Amino acid sequence: LQDPAAAPQRVEHRMTDKGYVPVYTTAVVEQPWSGYSRTDHEVWATLFARQQRLLEGRASEEFLRMQAAMGMTAREIPKFDDLNRSLRGATGWEIIAVEGLLPELDFFEHLANRRFPVTWWIRKPEQLDYLAEPDLFHDLFGHVPLLMNPLFADYIAAYGRGGVKAHAIGPEALANLTRLYWYTVEFGLIREAGGLRIYGAGILSSKGESIHCLDSAAPNRIGFDLARIMRTRYRIDSYQKTYFVIDSYAQLMEATRPDFTPLYAQLAVADSIPAGTVLDGDAVFHRGTGEGWPTDADV
Ligand code: PHE
Ligand code: FE
Repeated sequence: LQDPAAAPQRVEHRMTDKGYVPVYTTAVVEQPWSGYSRTDHEVWATLFARQQRLLEGRASEEFLRMQAAMGMTAREIPKFDDLNRSLRGATGWEIIAVEGLLPELDFFEHLANRRFPVTWWIRKPEQLDYLAEPDLFHDLFGHVPLLMNPLFADYIAAYGRGGVKAHAIGPEALANLTRLYWYTVEFGLIREAGGLRIYGAGILSSKGESIHCLDSAAPNRIGFDLARIMRTRYRIDSYQKTYFVIDSYAQLMEATRPDFTPLYAQLAVADSIPAGTVLDGDAVFHRGTGEGWPTDADV
């Protein structure tokens, strides 16, 4: 949860599919770098080293390469200004420090303008394995390295513009777009020469899910299909029941280039698909056994 030492903030509560969640309307802040404690830097170092070791051979090659190119290391929590020098030069992106979740439209507008909001505070030592909301480790370690890749950088900016548009169309369009973000940016897998690899930030920042998504027989692993993903519900409180696999970042760009407006209209009359269902038309890499799946409703 939010660090009690956090700067004063204006908090609103917004009803979402998780119930009421706090939304920090505080705009952009300076990363209070000199305020990080020894413990904060140690949490970063521990998580960084642990994931680095685990992700060798599991994360997308491009992720590992870009992370090294940015100059992120375990030594201490990076200074956003330093990372921004690499990022601006590579793709014109920059990261900005925020207190936490932003109102949806603000978030989309930042992305459309190549600003990636990063939560400045880091989890506590007792939260190494799980916390319910994004912190510095998730945002910075998980999301930022791929913003150094030109294709992925363009994809996230296009998503931001698409978000502004979907927001104007209505809540159903927004739900369709959110599912796309969830199953790509947060929980996506990619097929590379060595086999399936991880590029989704929600997996990359989680020890348990980094193993589960590739090694467990429980979840489905299915080929990327835009309209199918936009209909698929998901889990917010457990590992995913299904992961979608792209062939390349170029495939993701191509598939999402068309205007989604007609697709939203079509999907408005289609049923949603439960998170664990496999359909006849799916390109199945692995059909999940479903072992250990929660039986309550998916989001
Ligand atoms: N092409 C989408 C639209 O018209 C925008 C988008 C691009 C959304 C990339 C997601 C990812 O809405
Ligand atoms: Fe995230």
